Amino acid sequence: MQEQTVAVSMKEIADYCSEKSVLVSPQALGLLAEQKDYRKIIDELIQENVFVLNEGNLKEKILKKKAALFEPTNVVVRGFSFRPLASEVEPRCRVLQELDMSAPNRGSGKVTDFLEMFRDKFEFLSGLLKKRPNLEAKPIQRLLRTTKNNEITVCGIVSKKWVSKKGHAVIELEDTETRCLALFMKNDRASFELSRGVCLDDVIAVKGKKISDDMIVCTEVHWPDLPITPPRTSERDLNLLATSDIHVGSKLFLEKEFQAFLSWLSGKTQNDREREEIGKIKYLVICGDNVDGIGVYPDQYDELEIKDIFEQYDVLCNYLKQIPEYIETFVIPGQHDAVRRADPQPGVPKKFLKGIDGCKNIHFVGSPSWIETEGLKAMLYHGASLHDLYASVPGLDYAKPEEGMAILLKRRDLMVSYGAKQPYVPEKKDLMVIRHEPDFYFGGDMHRNGYLQYRGCSVINAGTWQSRTAFQVQQGQIPTPGIAVQVSLNTRKISEKRFV
Ligand SMILES: [Fe+2]
Repeated sequence: MQEQTVAVSMKEIADYCSEKSVLVSPQALGLLAEQKDYRKIIDELIQENVFVLNEGNLKEKILKKKAALFEPTNVVVRGFSFRPLASEVEPRCRVLQELDMSAPNRGSGKVTDFLEMFRDKFEFLSGLLKKRPNLEAKPIQRLLRTTKNNEITVCGIVSKKWVSKKGHAVIELEDTETRCLALFMKNDRASFELSRGVCLDDVIAVKGKKISDDMIVCTEVHWPDLPITPPRTSERDLNLLATSDIHVGSKLFLEKEFQAFLSWLSGKTQNDREREEIGKIKYLVICGDNVDGIGVYPDQYDELEIKDIFEQYDVLCNYLKQIPEYIETFVIPGQHDAVRRADPQPGVPKKFLKGIDGCKNIHFVGSPSWIETEGLKAMLYHGASLHDLYASVPGLDYAKPEEGMAILLKRRDLMVSYGAKQPYVPEKKDLMVIRHEPDFYFGGDMHRNGYLQYRGCSVINAGTWQSRTAFQVQQGQIPTPGIAVQVSLNTRKISEKRFV
């Protein structure tokens, strides 16, 4: 953050208070000892007729001082006037409330919730497979009516997966009535490789030859997937900006770079063409880990610049207030935010966001969330489940999070195997299932920018504003901090703006 902590002698402070006839509590002394300009703080409080210094009034004063450094400034670009196009048009956006965890969607916490969640997921995803032309996926029971050695395609949820003693891959599939085994022979390399990409709890269709009433030798695997469609575009020529993982409160938060980003967002650039593009930004999405949080991992406390969660959000809010009010901003939580770690995550509670009271353009929603902007659907998910995907599916690279995201789209499911590292809480409806065909899938978490076009969907992982952590050094991961991603909704062109 902006100030270095300076240890000042408590005696020196106590003497100064005594000289000014001010009473000071031991907690307030401790706080003042961390402020190199403690005399100025005391003098200002005296001017405000405060003569008894306690933890409460001092914290408030110190916070106000920090906030003043981030006060929004008017958009004045030397020699230019900035009349953003986006400020002259009404927003056309909405949150798909029925798919947001923040809406009243809670399960009852009973075992039956898990059954309902899996049934809901199976019905929806197997329905997609059964509807697919030319696939003709059938319930598993149909095996009984199929002649031995004939081809059949059945659909089920993966309940077990192993490699047999002879080296063949075996997948146990079940549906609401029965179960069967799908065999992938080791000498059929293509289908054997396909089976390696199957995760527990995947809903899939397998095609193969019946060899007994409960066993098929498979040659094909099909996931629910997105249809092959061209990218849709908006009528209006407006832009959407994506970013993520700000990590306010961390000692590694890139404060100057983030401030430069906010100034740029307000049109502060000398480049006319660039300013015109900035003026088209009507929407902003922020994909979680907005603050660094407290106690997220062992020893985090020593890596925090701001050690109070409310203060972290206060500083975040002071940044968010600088976003021009004509830009509709959607913010989801991540694992570092003050919400439960389990997916789906609700939006950050209002009690942490008092600093943006009255900012009607800033919307804190759940993860995952769906928003529609200019008629295009965007799915926002922070991305914690990707770690389980990377542990299950061979060949994925942490440096390319967009590839893992595309695999989740193919599965039409953001939840990888239940019971792996990432926890899930069953809601009345499985909110991790990808029920619509998104035009955009925005993610964060990996601290790496990455983009690809998957069928009709632009997959965009927005990087971070935190520099490389000790954990990332240990894991050999290299983040891409300080890059905002701009998307033209009108052309679907993606461009980067770098602030490092
Ligand atoms: Fe993060």
